[in-house]
Amino acid sequence: MQVTVSGRAREQELRRAASIAELPSFELKSRAAVDWDATVLQVSRTGLCLKTPGRDYRWHPGLLHTRVEAGWTHPLVRAMALTQGDRVLDCTLGLGTDASFVALLTRVPVTGIELQPALALMAQEGLRDAGHAVRVVNADSRLLLGGLPDGSFDVVWGDPMFPVGAAVTHSLDLVRHIGSHAPLGQGWLDQARRVAKKRVVVRDTWNGTLLETMSPDKILNTMRQRPRYGIWLG
Ligand SMILES: C[S@@+](CC[C@H](N)C(=O)[O-])C[C@H]1O[C@@H](n2cnc3c(N)ncnc32)[C@H](O)[C@@H]1O
Repeated sequence: MQVTVSGRAREQELRRAASIAELPSFELKSRAAVDWDATVLQVSRTGLCLKTPGRDYRWHPGLLHTRVEAGWTHPLVRAMALTQGDRVLDCTLGLGTDASFVALLTRVPVTGIELQPALALMAQEGLRDAGHAVRVVNADSRLLLGGLPDGSFDVVWGDPMFPVGAAVTHSLDLVRHIGSHAPLGQGWLDQARRVAKKRVVVRDTWNGTLLETMSPDKILNTMRQRPRYGIWLG
């Protein structure tokens, strides 16, 4: 992906763009050399911005406020059987809305793995600036899980991308635009179950078929047209 700076960038934005370009999937471009018909990560005084031909995207907290309002009654928390002090590994971080919420409740920093490099950078910056206790790792959780000790997290969480066409909120537009749609798969689940001391939880749409293919121990259904949660007990 191209990385550049905004107009009238200062030395520090230039330095940051150059250091991002040292990461494998980025290429530093001057503004004059950028192909604006393609996606570009722009470093500006106000932070990172993903520029696409139709729209600019910045990190945002998504629907965190609705999760916080629900607090301990939120279905995600019930599916995780979360308690204060739990160590949670988020294997599909996105912008980190779920991870921030869980970290607020457990009062333990959440580790969040995000495969897409620009999303990982934007999440890292946004979550840090918003003061959320989430440690961002840019990696493929299907590979990273294999290197973790047995039972090293209480809960392992997976929220793979819903299929194109499924009803989703606009808060996920950025994630849908550049996030990875690759399925997590059985290898991921086997490793997640080994790493999770208490349980593995995976989200699916209310009418999806993902959970049926993954054979969870139980499924938490809440309301019609609300996500379902597959649960594998540790
Ligand atoms: C539906 S979004 C997750 C949204 C997230 N739960 C939140 O609260 O913002 C799925 C995210 O997982 C990422 N992803 C998909 N497969 C992954 C993998 N194998 N390892 C790490 N991240 C992955 C995608 O790039 C995307 O950002």
